[in-house]
Amino acid sequence: MPTSISARRLELPRHVAIIMDGNGRWARSRGLERAAGHDEGARAVREVVRTCRERGVRYLTLYAFSLANWSRPKLEIEALMRLLVRFAEKEAAELKEKAINVNVIGDLDELPTFTRHAVENLIEYTNELPEGTTEPQMTLSLALSYSGRRDVVDAMRTIAAHARSGLLLPEDIDIGTLRRHFTTHQLPDVDLMIRTGGEQRLSDFLLIESAYAELHFTDVLWPDFTSDDLLDAFRVFSGRERRFGRTGEQVKLARVK
Ligand code: FPP
Repeated sequence: MPTSISARRLELPRHVAIIMDGNGRWARSRGLERAAGHDEGARAVREVVRTCRERGVRYLTLYAFSLANWSRPKLEIEALMRLLVRFAEKEAAELKEKAINVNVIGDLDELPTFTRHAVENLIEYTNELPEGTTEPQMTLSLALSYSGRRDVVDAMRTIAAHARSGLLLPEDIDIGTLRRHFTTHQLPDVDLMIRTGGEQRLSDFLLIESAYAELHFTDVLWPDFTSDDLLDAFRVFSGRERRFGRTGEQVKLARVK
């Protein structure tokens, strides 16, 4: 895929994760039902997916439905589940054509059957590469019934069972062991974590995977979030010095080498 000159100058995040907050407030401020905010949020999803793909982001992970979201009103949950089906059906062709493969983190089995089937179909369809393409250009991960803490607990249970049965020595357990058991095992660490809607918290999203992520918080409500807002976040990311525990001098030296 050709990359524009301005995009090449930016230090692009390889893995972008987004907490898409503010749909409810967007709708309420217009006298609409919260579900209307989610519908408009799906429009913003489409724009952000396109821009990430055009710019060359390799992994985009969206917090579409958290484990905690099951405590929302039943009607809102149903509207979200139907919206996911519409998204899966409407976007499949374009995603495949652009060699964007869809993947789920969290637990798809906890979704109602009609939503699960639509998302499974989308995964299967987009994981087959379009003709003339040899590798996927971007992985779009949808976090569904996802909880970072639950990923940690589930991984610990499996690892403890392996240790008890002698498959694994406790001293051989490292962060890689843990990561391999997460539902995010196929994804690299997050480089840029964006949260819209004015709050500044992670809400149980990719807790370990974001250990060294740059955090970008914006007051823009998710349905109003545009490509320009995304490119602003990329510019901020590009201006940050990522030290990973090293000194600023060490980072500069490593750049010269
Ligand atoms: C949080 O905003 C948003 C959600 C819980 C759902 C996110 C879903 C979408 C953006 C639409 C569908 C997604 C895909 C991938 C098709 P909120 O409702 O908590 O907003 P509020 O804080 O203003 O109440």
